Amino acid sequence: MTFIAEQIVKVFPGVRALDRATLRLEPGTIHALLGENGAGKSTLIKVVTGVYQPDGGRLLSTAEDGSLTELSFGGPLDAQRAGIGVVHQERNLVPAFSVAENIALQAVPKRRGFVDQEAMRGLARRCLDRLDVHLDVDRPVSSLSVAQMQLVEIAKALAVDSKVLLLDEPTASLTGDEAEALYTVVGALRDQGHSVVLVTHKLEEVFAVADTMTVLRDGRSVAEAQPLAEHTRDDVVTLMVGRAHADLQLDSRSVDTTTAPALELENVSTAQGHHNISLHVRRGEILGLYGLVGAGRSELARAVLGLDAITGGTVRISGEPVRISSVGQALQRHRLGYVTENRKEEGVFLDQTIARNVSVTVWRRLARLGLVRGNDERALVEQYREQLGMRISGPTQLAGQLSGGNQQKVSLAKWLAADCDILVIDEPTVGIDVRTKAAFHELIVGLADAGIAILLISSDLPEMITLADRIAVMSEYRIVGELDNDHRYERTSHAVIRMIHAEIAS
Ligand SMILES: Nc1ncnc2c1ncn2[C@@H]1O[C@H](COP(=O)(O)OP(=O)(O)OP(=O)(O)O)[C@@H](O)[C@H]1O
Ligand SMILES: [Mg+2]
Repeated sequence: MTFIAEQIVKVFPGVRALDRATLRLEPGTIHALLGENGAGKSTLIKVVTGVYQPDGGRLLSTAEDGSLTELSFGGPLDAQRAGIGVVHQERNLVPAFSVAENIALQAVPKRRGFVDQEAMRGLARRCLDRLDVHLDVDRPVSSLSVAQMQLVEIAKALAVDSKVLLLDEPTASLTGDEAEALYTVVGALRDQGHSVVLVTHKLEEVFAVADTMTVLRDGRSVAEAQPLAEHTRDDVVTLMVGRAHADLQLDSRSVDTTTAPALELENVSTAQGHHNISLHVRRGEILGLYGLVGAGRSELARAVLGLDAITGGTVRISGEPVRISSVGQALQRHRLGYVTENRKEEGVFLDQTIARNVSVTVWRRLARLGLVRGNDERALVEQYREQLGMRISGPTQLAGQLSGGNQQKVSLAKWLAADCDILVIDEPTVGIDVRTKAAFHELIVGLADAGIAILLISSDLPEMITLADRIAVMSEYRIVGELDNDHRYERTSHAVIRMIHAEIAS
């Protein structure tokens, strides 16, 4: 069946999120849905999957004989019954449930009215196997990393056999290898005649896997179901941004290696299973920490911040041994900030205004005489709004109403406002569009140039090679190598990948 969302309009108070957007999906194609942060991609997906009711336009499907049927979805279940499957950008797993229960939620195998536990586990394992993911299906989802959750969510979408499958930034926190496994599955679905919609800001992936594309700009479709083969990367970016866009070129930076490291780990072991981790980062330096999903990078950051237990070794800040007990203490006592990848649970207060979110780290500084002054908060937001290209209606908008990428910007702005000496930044540009990504990169380098020590965790190897001065490689909770980064992509990426594979093979 061909599926068409025609001239869709969706209005939220103060925003026209969709303004006559059209999406046309042919069977047997992988279709990229592209656009900058806030362009309306997720909103369109929610209209197509029955989460939102459109304020204008219609949903149609055509049968093989060309006859049109108008569809109307009262809710997500209706869309599911019509054969439309989805992975939303904000993940929807039940944390207390096991991996198996989550995957099988919509397709629970029952025997005589009872959930068939063995069949459920089997189904979950088969879905994970298709993605080449090895996870204990009895683990509660709450114990997984963000990237592992993402893989579970995709497996869940595969558990229901849908004709149209919509994936909203499925690979946002995955590394290349994991994304490749996903795209192998997606390719097989296409070959079986399904149509797959892919939302991603990673244009390399778009050109590698997609057949056709629709580009949204300010809620309008400015390119509709066009073959990708007819476009270059630059064309596509121009369509999204509305004008030509230049990629960031960074000069090589020099770091003063005579000063004591700002942050140093010596033989650190943790309750999570890290073993003898040693690394250091100096003022003005960007140390990249690279590794595959599950390598233990975010978990190490959490242990340093006191969120998980350190069981051995020493953490030093400016040469002094420290034991940090909380994120707040790290900031107040050591001027160490932590930009987390987990923006939904830790990064952003969705039910608070943007202004309150951005100023939360500087309340003490702003709260002269014990009162947070609204004007100060708003001034702070205005400062970052322009710098980060935040697409918001104003400082008093609730953070939960922002598009995914704009929430990420709020999360980063919060730590920029905090004025730290050391920043641990975990996956800063997950879900960030090309234009803003360049602005983020410039900003991070600017922070280092201003003397801040930066520990950068990223699964995005091109990003790591653009930004890092040195790269430490982690595999299975150990550091397996370290190298100076000469910013030459081919050479450095091969060296990094060799380190990981040598470790896995041994
Ligand atoms: N529930 C909501 N209430 C109010 N405004 C909303 C809501 N959801 C989305 N919006 C607004 O609609 C616009 C489009 O948002 P949408 O999430 O569809 O963007 P997107 O293209 O998915 O962006 P991103 O790449 O950042 O995920 C944005 O201006 C956003 O702030
Ligand atoms: Mg989105």
